[in-house]
Amino acid sequence: MDLQLKNKTCLVTGASRGIGRGAAKVMAAEGSRVAIVARREALLDELADEIVHAGGARPLIIAEDLTSDGGIERVRDRVLGAFGGLDILVNNAGSSRPVTWDATEEQWHEGMRLNFELVRRLTNQFVPTMRKQRFGRIINVTGANEPFGVNIASVAKAGLHNWAKGLSRELARDGITVNCIPPGRINSEQILERLHPTPENRKAFIDANIPIGYFGEPEDLANLIAFLASPLARYITGEVIHVDGGMHRFAG
Ligand SMILES: NC(=O)c1ccc[n+]([C@@H]2O[C@H](COP(=O)([O-])OP(=O)(O)OC[C@H]3O[C@@H](n4cnc5c(N)ncnc54)[C@H](OP(=O)(O)O)[C@@H]3O)[C@@H](O)[C@H]2O)c1
Repeated sequence: MDLQLKNKTCLVTGASRGIGRGAAKVMAAEGSRVAIVARREALLDELADEIVHAGGARPLIIAEDLTSDGGIERVRDRVLGAFGGLDILVNNAGSSRPVTWDATEEQWHEGMRLNFELVRRLTNQFVPTMRKQRFGRIINVTGANEPFGVNIASVAKAGLHNWAKGLSRELARDGITVNCIPPGRINSEQILERLHPTPENRKAFIDANIPIGYFGEPEDLANLIAFLASPLARYITGEVIHVDGGMHRFAG
C-alpha cells in the first residue's frame, strides 16, 4: 500500500529515544521530510545519520527543551521557516510520573505541563497552517486510562484524549484529523531503564498484564502513526487507538 507520504512534512517531538525515534524513522522511510525535536542533540544527530543512511532525506534537527521559556515558539519558527508549513504533527514527547496521593503542587505542575499543556500549546502553533493547507494530521502518543496508582502523566493523557476529541470535531471540515494512540508497554528508554529495569520485573509484568506475551517495539506503534498520517486515513478522526498487545481490559 502506498501511504502517499512522500514529501509530506512531519514534526516528531521526543525523537531522540523510544517511540519518537521509531516514528521519525518510519515516517522518513515513507518519504516524508521530518523535523525531530528533543533535548539531547547528539542523539538527534545520530538518528539523522541513520535516516540518511537508510535512504531518507536529512531531518531538520531541533535541539530544544519544550518546557523552556519560548521553546514552543522556537520549534514553530524553525519548522515553518524550513518547511513553509506542516502536514503532520506527532506529539510524542512526554514521560511517566508515578507519584503518591500527596505529591507536591510542583510535581503536579511539572507533570501536567509536560504531558498536557505543551502538547496543546504546540498543536495550536500549527493549526493555522494546516487550516490554510486544508490538510493536517495531529497524532498524540498518550497513555492508558487504567492507572495502577496515581500517575500525573496518566491524568494528563486522559485530558489529552478529551481535548483531542473536541479538537477533532472543530477541525474536521478543514481536512485535519486528530487521533490519540495510548501505548501499553513499548521498549523505550523510560520503560527499560526506569519503569521495568530488570528482566524479572518485565517478565512478572508481562505475565500479569500483557496477553500477547511481550513488550512491543517502537515500530509497532510507528506503523500506526504512519497510517494515521496518510491521506488514506482521512475518515478516521477523534479516535483513541490502543497499541498494547491486548493489555487494556475494557471492550470498545
Ligand atoms: N513506552 C511505553 O510503553 C509508553 C507507555 C505509555 C505512554 N508512553 C508515552 O509515549 C511517549 C514516548 O515515550 P517513550 O517510552 O518512547 O519515552 P522515552 O524513551 O523516555 O523518550 C521520551 C522522549 O521525549 C523526549 N523529551 C522528554 N522531555 C522532553 C522535553 N522537555 N523537551 C523535549 N523533548 C523531551 C526525550 O528526549 P530528551 O531526553 O533527549 O529530551 C525522548 O526523546 C511519551 O509521551 C510517554 O508518556 C509510552
